[in-house]
Amino acid sequence: MRGEEIIGCCRELAALSETPEGLLRTFLCEPMHDVHALAGHWMEAAGMEVATDAAGNLRGVYPGKSGSTRRLLLGSHLDTVPDAGAFDGVLGVVLAIALVDSLGGRRLPFSIEVAGFSEEEGVRFGAPFLGSRALAGTLDGPLLARCDAAGNSVADAIRAFGLDPSRLPEARVAAGVFAYLEFHIEQGPLLDSLGLPLGVVTSIAGQSRLTVDFRGKANHAGTTPMHLRQDALAAAARWISVVERHARATPCLTATVGALGVRPGAGNVVPGEVRASLDVRHPDDAVRCRSSAALLSAAQRIGDRRGVAVAWESHMDQPATACDPALVEALAHAVGAAGYPVHRMPSGAGHDAMVLASRIPVAMLFLRSPGGVSHHPEETVKAEDVDAALAAGAALLAELERRHA
Ligand code: GLV
Ligand code: MN
Ligand code: MN
Repeated sequence: MRGEEIIGCCRELAALSETPEGLLRTFLCEPMHDVHALAGHWMEAAGMEVATDAAGNLRGVYPGKSGSTRRLLLGSHLDTVPDAGAFDGVLGVVLAIALVDSLGGRRLPFSIEVAGFSEEEGVRFGAPFLGSRALAGTLDGPLLARCDAAGNSVADAIRAFGLDPSRLPEARVAAGVFAYLEFHIEQGPLLDSLGLPLGVVTSIAGQSRLTVDFRGKANHAGTTPMHLRQDALAAAARWISVVERHARATPCLTATVGALGVRPGAGNVVPGEVRASLDVRHPDDAVRCRSSAALLSAAQRIGDRRGVAVAWESHMDQPATACDPALVEALAHAVGAAGYPVHRMPSGAGHDAMVLASRIPVAMLFLRSPGGVSHHPEETVKAEDVDAALAAGAALLAELERRHA
């Protein structure tokens, strides 16, 4: 498969959506069945045995030489954000399949497993990485009991997809897996600004995800004087401007309020309740934790001044993750051997690799994001960069083949 064909496959998968307008695929939604059928078909055509684990991850295994016990894991995620582009996550899965396909049936001294993770974005349950957590062995009790907006738990969603949550232990990373490699679009403007096709990821910024609830008092918009209101949305709006100011003043920090639920949500009613999401990221965990605490104190202070009660819940506290130094160097060498400039860079976005790093050495290869656009329908990738990633992947396989011979 060449770059154009791989991009075509990603666009084919992008047609499988929960929403008629714009792409959305959340954890184990109905269209994920068709995604599995299509990507599973490509896996089989590349010589893999395909199965779906109990967390809804699509997993294909390409056997190694007879007697080989070691395994290389490749993958990325198949879910999306709302109104998504066609490449975040999906490109990493299709590229991995294409890399296996490029072996043309030739056996290596290790098997290769390609995982298409069921969930990385956290859209449906507010907690990300549900798919890769199953491989790490951390998709357990409290996470399985989490509910979506319709009141269905993660365990319910697994059963509704035709899977059995009691079999989750079987989804763990297989014994013998010696490394995880993830191809992913950069999702930022850096490689594009430098005119480079590829980036070798050295580390992934840590992230905190929370919800902050503002509870005031709903009342009549025409009769309640401004000084007698307990407007939850006005309090939240004030706080959001503090969040932005704090992040702008803190080097390398990003802080985002990306979702707001307002109740009762009518134009002629003073807002009584607001639920706001908060996403805080930084390469240094101490800075991230200090900032999260400062932002929550600010919410409390603003609420106190306005007669609005404030409460919060943490949904994730994912520490910053270093990629495996030896694997990073092997990947950097492979990029050079394939004839491309080597550029090492940190990742601001979160990735399944962060979760798998608790179990196995991980590395990531970024592909340039033209215009730096991602989590947006205009997200794209260049065919020549996909070819470059494939060539670097093949060079890495050749190096690993030498090491494991
Ligand atoms: C995943 O896309 C994330 O970084 O939020
Ligand atoms: Mn994403
Ligand atoms: Mn992604």
